[in-house]
Amino acid sequence: MLLNKFAKRDYSLTDAAQSAVALDDELIEEKVEGAWWSPDLPRKELKAMMKRSDGPALFHFGLWILLLIMSGYLAYLSWGTWWAVLTFFIYGTIYSSSDARWHECGHGTPFKTRWLNEFFYYLSSFMTLREAHLWRWSHARHHTDTIIVMQDPEIQVMRPTDLLKILADFFWLRSGPPEVWRIIQHALGRPNADVRSFVPETERPRMYWSSRIYVAIFVGFALWSVAMGSFLPMMFIGLPRFYGGWLHQFLGLTQHAGLAENTMDHRQNTRTVHVNPVFQYLYMNMNYHLEHHVIPMVPYHTLPKLHQAIVDQTPAPYTSLWQVYKEMIPALYKQATQDPDYHIERPLPTPVETTLPVQERVNGQNGHQALVEKPQAIAGNWVEVCAVDDLDEEEVIGFDYNSKKYAVYRLLGDNFYASDGLCTHEKVALAGGLVLDGCIECPMHNGRFDVATGKAVKPPVHEDLKTYSVEQRGDKVFINIPD
Ligand code: FES
Repeated sequence: MLLNKFAKRDYSLTDAAQSAVALDDELIEEKVEGAWWSPDLPRKELKAMMKRSDGPALFHFGLWILLLIMSGYLAYLSWGTWWAVLTFFIYGTIYSSSDARWHECGHGTPFKTRWLNEFFYYLSSFMTLREAHLWRWSHARHHTDTIIVMQDPEIQVMRPTDLLKILADFFWLRSGPPEVWRIIQHALGRPNADVRSFVPETERPRMYWSSRIYVAIFVGFALWSVAMGSFLPMMFIGLPRFYGGWLHQFLGLTQHAGLAENTMDHRQNTRTVHVNPVFQYLYMNMNYHLEHHVIPMVPYHTLPKLHQAIVDQTPAPYTSLWQVYKEMIPALYKQATQDPDYHIERPLPTPVETTLPVQERVNGQNGHQALVEKPQAIAGNWVEVCAVDDLDEEEVIGFDYNSKKYAVYRLLGDNFYASDGLCTHEKVALAGGLVLDGCIECPMHNGRFDVATGKAVKPPVHEDLKTYSVEQRGDKVFINIPD
């Protein structure tokens, strides 16, 4: 009995592969019904927080590159002296904070300009040794199924807790080698069953080629080190992710470790903790991790505002890292030695009845809904959706018709468009998303579609959206839904 309790649990995703197949109507319904907890928040307020701009991120990334160059130069100068221990520690810590940048740019939210997001995404993915294509898909699954066993590929602390692994990963010694091995396997075109369960087949060639580039660069640096008879080149590329990984592990553990598995409420499996400004900068505000999971469309620099807006609907934030670790260490120890099922319960505030009308709030993952009670088709399958004034510029509204979801968009001026209401990736309602530069960004994984054509323009969406004709007649908006 005791042995069973502490037997290694199965966290593999092989069974979850089934969820990667096309969903039938019943499964779609289940998926829409089984949505994650979502806060009540005025839609206008949320939209202001989701707004994208390049300014804050240009400053943020500019400073980061400058810090990398300065610390790298000092490290280079000090090589061969005892000062190198300190200077490489600083360089490695800044270098490894690429992990937070990989994460943010993967969501596509720091910059308004798409190529800037992509440029820093590929750069930081390489630096943090997360192959860019693989981890884009892996992270999408993590948001769909956060800490759901056999569904989430990014569960950092599996049970029964392996305390030695947690300690070794302060220098990425237990998770790093398998990750490097996985890159080598993908360079050879050999994904394992878990990877096949979340990376679509059409995307795998990109993953293989990108892995080959990683391997070529690391082999190049290794050969350079051999030729020089010194580790110096590898101290700048590759190795920093190991010797400088401590801060990433120290902060990363606060995200979910010791909290509940298999819940559909991020308030029970994700933490927010206040940290000092230096850590907050290096971590790109990911200490507001609960808010990030609840609404991934909010860019890192407005997460503190989102935190303030929903703080009375979430468990009290941890006031310091000390407060987190004081609670988390005994919990992990208990999971490792006494009870693998144990987890920390986060006390939830008493729910407050919202006074906001439904069309003005974020109401779960069905998003922003039109108020036409029962839309009826008139001649030629034209269906009245809403009044023109119900839809602001650069806004989306959803509605149901004949048991199917639709979305109507207004771009700048009186330009209206319509499409199916569920994202083609994982059937999330697009009416909760953000209209941006002629695209709709999905609220779940930040994939984007061009609203005029339905074309999928940003992963993880890769299947186009069906679009419908729209007409403005007087002060009403109609869409044509063929039988
Ligand atoms: S559900 Fe994944 S991008 Fe829409």
